[in-house]
Amino acid sequence: MSDKIAEEGKLSAARRALSYVKDDMTIGLGTGSTAAYFLHLLSEQVSDGLSITGIPTSKSTEKLAKKLGIKVTSDFTGIIDADFDGADEVDSSGNLVKGGGGALTREKIVAANSRKLVVMVDESKLTEGHLSRSKIPVEILPFMSQLTVKKLQMMAISCEIRKSFTTDNGNYIVDCNFGKIDEPAHLESQIKMLPGVVEVGLFVRMASKIIVGSRDSSYELNY
Ligand code: 5RP
Repeated sequence: MSDKIAEEGKLSAARRALSYVKDDMTIGLGTGSTAAYFLHLLSEQVSDGLSITGIPTSKSTEKLAKKLGIKVTSDFTGIIDADFDGADEVDSSGNLVKGGGGALTREKIVAANSRKLVVMVDESKLTEGHLSRSKIPVEILPFMSQLTVKKLQMMAISCEIRKSFTTDNGNYIVDCNFGKIDEPAHLESQIKMLPGVVEVGLFVRMASKIIVGSRDSSYELNY
């Protein structure tokens, strides 16, 4: 798939997702290029009078939202009405790989505290059957990071620390190849049990709706 077609798919998914934003909602604002399309479209509605509060999942999303005139907070203790985010890969059960942009920890906190997670993707992100194509990002603490990487390497086919990258939380990302993932929930809990691991970019049974965009249309998968 060409980059241009993928971009059109992302935009079309973001446009459809916007129909789920209603006045006075508190919504999660995802991270990445698809989420950025969503923010631009959302800001047009805000200029037209829509009143929402956004909870950004990264510093870059916070900066863009503020620039576009969208009200944001991270000081919120209620249930978020809906979270709008992209994904790196989606399997046939709606399980996700996220964290290509390194924002997986904040993304998971916001998703886990939302009534629904609306995922916006272009068709290239869909995988028939089990997750298998993306490396799984794992956020780890810098303290004794080489040891944590070694432990992850023992579980995976291969793992590499993301070069010259620090998360918004001051941590590192390790990208791990686990091949085909038959049991994502089991793998997620195994990785999270390793001391030094902050979060893993496997989002298992979290998505309520996947919006798939293509050049001239879009459709939804509901879970
Ligand atoms: C960031 C993410 C993104 O949602 C994911 O990487 C998809 O990005 P894009 O919309 O640019 O393809 O998880 O941490």
